[in-house]
Amino acid sequence: MSEFPVHPVPESFKGAHITADNYAAMYRESIEDPATFWGEMATRFLHWHQPWNEVVSYDFPKGEAAWFSGGKLNVSVNCIDRHLPEKAQQPAIIWEGDDPTDSRIITYAELKDAVCRLANVLKSRGIQRGDRVCIYMPMIPEAAFAMLACTRIGAIHSVVFGGFSPEALKDRILDSSCSVVITADEGLRGGKRVALKRNVDKALDACPDVHSCIVVARTGAEVDWHDTRDVDYSQASAAADSDCEAEVMDAEDPLFILYTSGSTGKPKGVLHTTGGYLLHAASSFHYVFDYRDGEVFWCTADVGWVTGHSYIVYGPLCNGATTMIFEGVPTYPDPGRFWQVIDKHQVNIFYTAPTALRALHAVGDEPVKRTSRSSLRLLGSVGEPINPEAWEWYYRVVGESRCPIVDTWWQTETGGMMITPFPGATPLKPGSASFPFFGVDLALLNEEGAEIEGAGAGYLVIRASWPGQIRTVYGDHQRLIDTYFSTYPGYYFTGDGATRDEDGYYWITGRVDDVLNVSGHRMGTAEVESALVLHDKIAEAAVVGFPHDIKGQGIYCYVTPMQGVTPDDALKAELIALCVEEIGPIAKPDIIQWAPGLPKTRSGKIMRRILRKIAENELDSLGDTSTLADPEVVESLIAERQSH
Ligand code: WTA
Repeated sequence: MSEFPVHPVPESFKGAHITADNYAAMYRESIEDPATFWGEMATRFLHWHQPWNEVVSYDFPKGEAAWFSGGKLNVSVNCIDRHLPEKAQQPAIIWEGDDPTDSRIITYAELKDAVCRLANVLKSRGIQRGDRVCIYMPMIPEAAFAMLACTRIGAIHSVVFGGFSPEALKDRILDSSCSVVITADEGLRGGKRVALKRNVDKALDACPDVHSCIVVARTGAEVDWHDTRDVDYSQASAAADSDCEAEVMDAEDPLFILYTSGSTGKPKGVLHTTGGYLLHAASSFHYVFDYRDGEVFWCTADVGWVTGHSYIVYGPLCNGATTMIFEGVPTYPDPGRFWQVIDKHQVNIFYTAPTALRALHAVGDEPVKRTSRSSLRLLGSVGEPINPEAWEWYYRVVGESRCPIVDTWWQTETGGMMITPFPGATPLKPGSASFPFFGVDLALLNEEGAEIEGAGAGYLVIRASWPGQIRTVYGDHQRLIDTYFSTYPGYYFTGDGATRDEDGYYWITGRVDDVLNVSGHRMGTAEVESALVLHDKIAEAAVVGFPHDIKGQGIYCYVTPMQGVTPDDALKAELIALCVEEIGPIAKPDIIQWAPGLPKTRSGKIMRRILRKIAENELDSLGDTSTLADPEVVESLIAERQSH
């Protein structure tokens, strides 16, 4: 699959938690007897107030799954209180600010204090078990406090990425009827300020049910203040009790909602529950990162994405680890920032996204080599396929051929890692996510929906429930069934394609649906299209991805103006602004191509396959165009493409 050599398990990982000696037997048990396997794991990784009655029961066609039914636990107790006897003074969170001179350490004792106080503030605003709380925050420790404070009292959090626009924020607040928003005055990224509170104010104009907005002063900027609604975080926390009894939750009580994009319609509120999710996050953190007590773990994701939920907050803290929260960006103040931070905080395990690696690779080795990185033991990658060139650079230059790389494939819907190497057990093939995690029963299906045996390429599906499985789409269970359990009855459909090589390694090839992955951010083509056609000069739009050196995929928009409109650069600029306004800066189109018409079948369906090929400039392989209503449309699109 790749001309790059296989990297054997290094000597230094021979004593890892998982080695070639125990992986196969553990994996086999996890598939053949999940109840025994996960029952033992749940005892080992989690603290329960009351044991469960049944480890697992599920029904894929109905989109139902329940893990540890009847079991009682509290997530904040698992992530904080139970570590206090031994680790009260150990750093739970190391925060590195946008400015390199800005950092903070929060011990487990301090975490307990901050979380309980905020939980009491939420209670004082009437928040109870089951209520929804929206968190729209920069990457500051208070973002984690907010999540954990919700879990303390059994409220369901919905974290919305701080890069989303007021419009996108409003949609998410309304969809899950949140009654409180926790935010900051401003965010700070790469020296630039982000007007979070102003965005919230705009969003809340259309959200009458939000009665409280708790505001952390990050930059101290002047912000508009609504006396009855807005609450100053530090004042309210200081006044609140530093103890808050933990609400005892059922294993299947909702823990959080996280919106993610699909191929159609508005983003879906992926709902995760308490016991199974936490176990998946905690066990994968321990085994895949081979975490050792006292080590410093750094995941560079944003808490607005699932990676931040599972591997900045819940997985590490449930293990009593030290987790980093980084406010800034990889290239500020200079492209050596990641490596300087690794030295500064003596990071042992570093987990980032291929898009960041490609951007840093492009500026050369010098900023890396100026640093020591001697603390690093293990590297990780997540969010999109990592090309073997970026993998090799990460391995040789960043990790000095000493640190294994775990390329972890998973999704918002899976809660935790699903395909990944184990650093002590898996010889690494650059670009392959390799083998399934415990309890993950994978299959590849062909076009007819039949399972492929041995080596081959197909649609990646999952045959049986796993603990971190999505439980529902908030407010729309039918959508869960339609999206994940209907395409191939009896399976969970991932939306990804993959190949399996002759050694059984999986290689993810990317989405097979209309979902883009732009710099590791998931985005539905339909969302960008809806934004574009809001413009009154636009009749129609079709959006596809195209290969982009740094972002992985770029956003390519074919746009048909209304009759009589002469399109020009000013209109392009307006369309770009519209996407940013409707979704956020991550949805900025890379290319807008004017399209007098779009290729459609006689029944009016846009043929995206052809648009994708034109965007990729693969004009020789357009495939069958005979079903097009108007084949000339393609000729004119190609001519226009060539002029770019
Ligand atoms: C893609 C992020 C290849 C994939 C955790 C998946 C990957 C989507 C990898 C989920 C990887 C994630 N190799 N592709 N290691 N990790 N993906 O929900 O297409 O933001 O379906 O979850 O990202 O994105 P999401």
